[in-house]
Amino acid sequence: MQVIHTRLALSAALKAQGKIAFVPTMGNLHAGHLALVQLAKQHADCVVVSIFVNPLQFDSNQDLAKYPRTLEADCAQLASIGTNIVFAPSVVEMYPGLDDTSLNQTMMVTPPPIADDLCGATRLGHFAGVATVVAKLFNLVQPDVAVFGKKDFQQLFIIRELVKQLNFPIDILAGDIVRDTNGLALSSRNGHLTTAEKNQAIQLNQALNQAVTCAQRSNADFAKIEHQTTTTLSNQGWKVDYITIRSAQTLAPAQDTDFQFVILGAATLANIRLIDNIEFCAKPLN
Ligand code: PAF
Repeated sequence: MQVIHTRLALSAALKAQGKIAFVPTMGNLHAGHLALVQLAKQHADCVVVSIFVNPLQFDSNQDLAKYPRTLEADCAQLASIGTNIVFAPSVVEMYPGLDDTSLNQTMMVTPPPIADDLCGATRLGHFAGVATVVAKLFNLVQPDVAVFGKKDFQQLFIIRELVKQLNFPIDILAGDIVRDTNGLALSSRNGHLTTAEKNQAIQLNQALNQAVTCAQRSNADFAKIEHQTTTTLSNQGWKVDYITIRSAQTLAPAQDTDFQFVILGAATLANIRLIDNIEFCAKPLN
């Protein structure tokens, strides 16, 4: 496995590699990321993983500074599952001519209005930062396919729009959410929870599952289900940001005419904001 830090070395390493699959990450890898790499391997001759903590998508310098940088451990995990190339650039390498203090002068990708909804409503500019760095990474890696996790459902939706609207010739593959044995969706943020808090954190997935069961009943009232789910979590000590049932295709509020839905939740437990989601059909498929 090659670990590369510059655009020049990356471009040299990518020559004559055949079909390329790309998995962008910010590092601090867990089994969820490794599952994305495994999926990528099934679709290409060469798998490139980027590890870059993108300052542009953080709304506070404190969160950015706090984000764990674990390059050595990440590379060991990636090597053990047959990754071909790790691209771990510096800020200057990704934002040429700029540095941490002048990043506000960078050219940005403007995402569609859905970027200001859900997680974007409280994390201002977050998805513009994500779209910008992903577009830059796509230009550098020029992959045939790129893999993103369904846990960040809104991010996945915005990346699909990015590829469509900016004409990137890249197939986007979606990796299923990886959960621990209790159902807690794996996330780098889980590392900030104590064992007791982790045990409590499964309540988010339990509440969403319960909501899906109710939503699949005939004549289900989605607004009422959202409200009840929010109340359940609030009573359990969570600070709920949103619980919402949307069209899985458009992320617009669910309509009677939709068939595929997704319930999305974001809530804070012990100062750690967690997200989760479950896709479902109006009626169980079998
Ligand atoms: O999902 C992430 O880890 C990041 O948002 C991404 C896609 C690597 C862009 O920085």
